[in-house]
Amino acid sequence: MLVDDVAEVLFDEEEIKKRCMELGEIIANDYQEKEPILVALLKGAIPFLAELSKNIDLPLEVDYLDVSSYEGTESTGEINIRKDLDRSIKGRDILIVEDIVDTGRTLKAVKKYLLDKGANDIKVVALLDKKSRRAVDIDAEYVGFDIPDFFVIGFGLDYNQKYRNLPFVGVLKKELYC
Ligand code: IMP
Ligand code: MG
Repeated sequence: MLVDDVAEVLFDEEEIKKRCMELGEIIANDYQEKEPILVALLKGAIPFLAELSKNIDLPLEVDYLDVSSYEGTESTGEINIRKDLDRSIKGRDILIVEDIVDTGRTLKAVKKYLLDKGANDIKVVALLDKKSRRAVDIDAEYVGFDIPDFFVIGFGLDYNQKYRNLPFVGVLKKELYC
């Protein structure tokens, strides 16, 4: 079974749902009278987007962006767009939805990309945050859970494209990725 590859469950489905309800309320309150676009980063953010967005009582829109870092240019923060946004974001308030912030390079580059496209305001909501790993100056305004430097899987997060479908966030057994 898939769950046999998990060393430890960090956050089970109930905890994640509860936290998404809390975050949804906070976000709805902060964005009163606004109509933000939630921009989810494919593919990892999809389960989090689904759980979070149903708890944000606002006339929001949803769009998707798929990016990859250019090989060997990590430090410049350049990104390659695999799937672009469907609609204009000019003058709009953007809430980026991300599975996890690690070094922060992806988010920094995505933020710049969206700003260049004319967004009015850009904030970030991330299910997980590995603050100790940060390499660039960026922070998510809304965070589900802070975690230590573990490699985690589940609830959208993958290892080699697998485990995204686990209903919880867990630590992958070391022997499976060393
Ligand atoms: P960053 O640019 O270093 O912040 O990388 C963020 C991206 O790396 C996330 O969107 C994930 O796709 C991936 N990532 C970072 N840490 C983990 C992890 O523990 N498990 C699975 N994916 C991770
Ligand atoms: Mg990602």
